[in-house]
Amino acid sequence: MNYTAIALSPRALLERWDAQQTAYVAHRELRFRSMLDVLRLHLTEPFHVLDLACGPGSLADRVLTAFPRARVTAVDYDPVLLRLADAVLAEHGGRATVVDSDLVRADWIEPLAGERIDAVVSSTALHWLSPSQLLRVYTALGDLLPPGAIFLNADHLRYEPGNETLGALSEQHDAEVQRESFAAGADTWDAWYELATAQPGTAPFAAERERRFADRPPQPKSPLHFHLSALSTAGFTEVGTVWQYLDDYVVFARR
Ligand SMILES: C[S@@+](CC[C@H](N)C(=O)[O-])C[C@H]1O[C@@H](n2cnc3c(N)ncnc32)[C@H](O)[C@@H]1O
Repeated sequence: MNYTAIALSPRALLERWDAQQTAYVAHRELRFRSMLDVLRLHLTEPFHVLDLACGPGSLADRVLTAFPRARVTAVDYDPVLLRLADAVLAEHGGRATVVDSDLVRADWIEPLAGERIDAVVSSTALHWLSPSQLLRVYTALGDLLPPGAIFLNADHLRYEPGNETLGALSEQHDAEVQRESFAAGADTWDAWYELATAQPGTAPFAAERERRFADRPPQPKSPLHFHLSALSTAGFTEVGTVWQYLDDYVVFARR
């Protein structure tokens, strides 16, 4: 499809992103809702949330809308998405800070030193990291967060060997939801990027994105027990899950 003639507002691009992501994450809105519920029940405003691999600001936007006195620091490494997140989250005034940072690097957390962070959230993103990179991120968070702070990670995880039936059902369900969503007009991942990079002024960001992600092959998904053990090892005192649908989870940890 040729998108060169279409110029969309940042908010409209985010809405198309949300529809696209919902094709890959069946109950994405409910999953976000469970995360917002935990923030509301556990924290008292004003609080500061760190959104890891924020993309175009989807979850950060929901946090800032649900909690009018909250602040969010949103981190990502994709220049196209960072630019969009910057534009979308600016609608919340000075309550959002968007940071260009590569979670694979050992020093990604340095700009946050000295910040008080009450919750760390992430959605559909940490599967980009290998197990050793993930353990390093969890360890850095364990060092940064004060006692009582929480971590919520929403992502597809891998079933353990012995759960082949559940694995097959998850795959069938994913395929079904994608088929229905695309038939109803949602963009595929590739089509959304084509649309985003065709926006005026985006070309240099798209080129930088190509460069940054050229050698980042997809990682094998980790099972739930890896995340729970890694978070415990990193100093989180309470670990568990707050939501699950087939292989899609929200993992919880409390420092
Ligand atoms: C599927 S998107 C999810 C975005 C958003 N959290 C959401 O749920 O809509 C995955 C995100 O992970 C980001 N990402 C992948 N590797 C990263 C890294 N090493 N450092 C920071 N962000 C990364 C990508 O740029 C992308 O924005």
